[in-house]
Parts: sequence; C-alpha cells; structure tokens
Amino acid sequence: MRVTVNRKAHFNAAHRLYCQDWDNVKNEAVFGKCNNPNFHGHNYELIVSVTGAINPQTGFVIDLNDLKTLIYEKIELYMDHKNLNEQVPEFKTLNPTAENIVVVIWQRLRQHLDEALDLAVTLYETPRNFVYYDGKA
Ligand code: NI
Repeated sequence: MRVTVNRKAHFNAAHRLYCQDWDNVKNEAVFGKCNNPNFHGHNYELIVSVTGAINPQTGFVIDLNDLKTLIYEKIELYMDHKNLNEQVPEFKTLNPTAENIVVVIWQRLRQHLDEALDLAVTLYETPRNFVYYDGKA
C-alpha cells in the first residue's frame, strides 16, 4: 500500500517578473502588474505531498515532524519575507513565476528525502492560481 502524506506550509515573499531581453513596453504587456519595478508581495501557500509505503513498525510513510522541520528549514527560512529576485540565489537569473518557484521548492526538498518516497509540490500564488510539480518531465 502506498499512501500520500500531505503537509501545508506558508510563506510571504516579494517578486518582480520581467525578461531582460525585452524593453519596458513588452515587459509591461506580458507581465502587467507583476512587472512593477518596485516589486510586490504574495502570500504563498504550499502543499508538500510525500507518497510511499507504510512502514510496518511505525505505521508512517514519513514522520510528519521530520517533514515539518524539512519544509521549515529548506523552504520557509529560505524564502519567507524575502525578495525572491534579489535574495534567493536561484532567481538571480530565473524569473520567479509560480512555475519556477514550485520547481525550485521541489528540488530543494527532493535531495533530503528517501529515494523510495515520491514527492509532489502544489504552490498557491493566490487562492485561485496554483501550480503543481512532481518531478516527472
Ligand atoms: Ni506577482
């Protein structure tokens, strides 16, 4: 039996979306309000989903306290109350869209999880706009 364990988390962060190859007119046309040169913030909501076999001794797929700590140390401390463009190294050259943020989060968590576990991450940038990445393709 493989079961999925989910943990929710939260962080606030600022960003600006732009493409340095384009002039201001095109950046404004493509990114709209998210191109604001003075940055703007989002309340990001995160759902981390870990799928695996139930350990017969503990009854756990993963210890939720361990998962909580991992998310706190690798994601919340790293991104909460940060300017993603200027303070998070991955976004020095990568546009901090929800799509790119969810991939960065997945990569930062994946390296600390047992290989037998599958990982998927859902990231809400607004209550209605959210993205999903599970490492496949
Ligand atoms: Ni935005």
